[in-house]
Amino acid sequence: MGTDSGTAQHPRTSSFQEMWRELLPVGRHPGSRGYRRFAWTGADGECRAWFREQAEARGLTYEVDRNGNQWAWLGDPAQGDAVVTGSHLDSVPDGGAFDGPLGVVSSFAALDELRARRAEFTKPLALVNFGDEEGARFGLACVGSRLTAGQLTAEQAHLLTDGEGVTLPRAMEAAGYDPDGIGGDPERLARIGAFVELHVEQGRALDLSGDRVGIASAIWPHGRWRFDFRGEANHAGTTRLVDRRDPMLSYAETVLAARREAELAGAVATFGKIAVEPNGVNAIPSLVRGWLDSRAADQESLDQVVGGIEKAAREYADAHGIALDIVRESFTPVVEFDHALRDELARILGTGTDLKVPVLGTGAGHDAGILSGHIPTAMLFVRNPTGVSHSPAEFAAEDDCVAGVLALADVLEGLACR
Ligand code: GLV
Ligand code: MN
Ligand code: MN
Repeated sequence: MGTDSGTAQHPRTSSFQEMWRELLPVGRHPGSRGYRRFAWTGADGECRAWFREQAEARGLTYEVDRNGNQWAWLGDPAQGDAVVTGSHLDSVPDGGAFDGPLGVVSSFAALDELRARRAEFTKPLALVNFGDEEGARFGLACVGSRLTAGQLTAEQAHLLTDGEGVTLPRAMEAAGYDPDGIGGDPERLARIGAFVELHVEQGRALDLSGDRVGIASAIWPHGRWRFDFRGEANHAGTTRLVDRRDPMLSYAETVLAARREAELAGAVATFGKIAVEPNGVNAIPSLVRGWLDSRAADQESLDQVVGGIEKAAREYADAHGIALDIVRESFTPVVEFDHALRDELARILGTGTDLKVPVLGTGAGHDAGILSGHIPTAMLFVRNPTGVSHSPAEFAAEDDCVAGVLALADVLEGLACR
């Protein structure tokens, strides 16, 4: 079955709609209309309770792994070569409804579709909600999958601290989870034969090509760097300009340098989060802390961009008597998704149609990217006509979402029912 087949009349549309409606109000801020579903907070807990209910309502075996990721199993995981699908339910600050939840809801809806088709599974199937994908609270993205994959050690995870000084283990504990066992989970990974994550597209390639669904080719290398500019706090009214050591100036010039360097390399660079001390309207700051997120098509370009920004920041800081510390807080190298699995998805989705499913790269990070170094991994993207993401304007039409569910069902049937 192709991705463009008659979706509106499909009997499983209601399964998607019902789940989507249930999740929609959870963690939505009444002012911004954006989502604030941060790891291990109440809103995240509501999302997790919803996942568990959906799993149990379908008679799936529900479990939470040592890193707080939620799993719903059909069949015996010990059989091995499992096919796994899912995504995440947490959000960035004032995020959209689709980034993450679309993949989780589609996983349950795809299972409903396969049961309606009376598909016979020959391999175990699992649906998963990875914890703390966005890193909005503790600064590091994909914590649940990184821990599982051994790319973040328990020792490193114990040091992760939110803006209120709460560490990750204490936050897990407060949410009712046991943090004692966090760490690599190679036995779990060894039981998985393939992971497929469905995700809303975070750009307009599918809108421009007129396709509902696409397949991922690669994820750009990307990382986060913290820039601490330290100057001298002083009175905003009485301190002469020449006497100031104002870290905001060096920060501002660094932001402009980031834009220039990114343009030169055809890359992206963003300062989207800032902390100022003492944060008073009438005080020259003592500290400006800015977080840089930068991504590029290849490692060389990314090195060039970040190197250029660091050099400019140091020059400005030196010129203004500002002390500067730069710390790389996270980094994910380029991800090239498994070619054989990608071709298999294209074959499955193209069977019986003359449809050629578009294959797209992305600058966004995903749990699938983390797992791709350990198990064959693929992604499906669903059209987003606004192209906007990490904002309440993120969107996918219901027909396209259902086309995504059907595509995912086809893929799972092709991988787990043969
Ligand atoms: C996650 O969505 C990221 O790309 O930062
Ligand atoms: Mn995201
Ligand atoms: Mn996501």
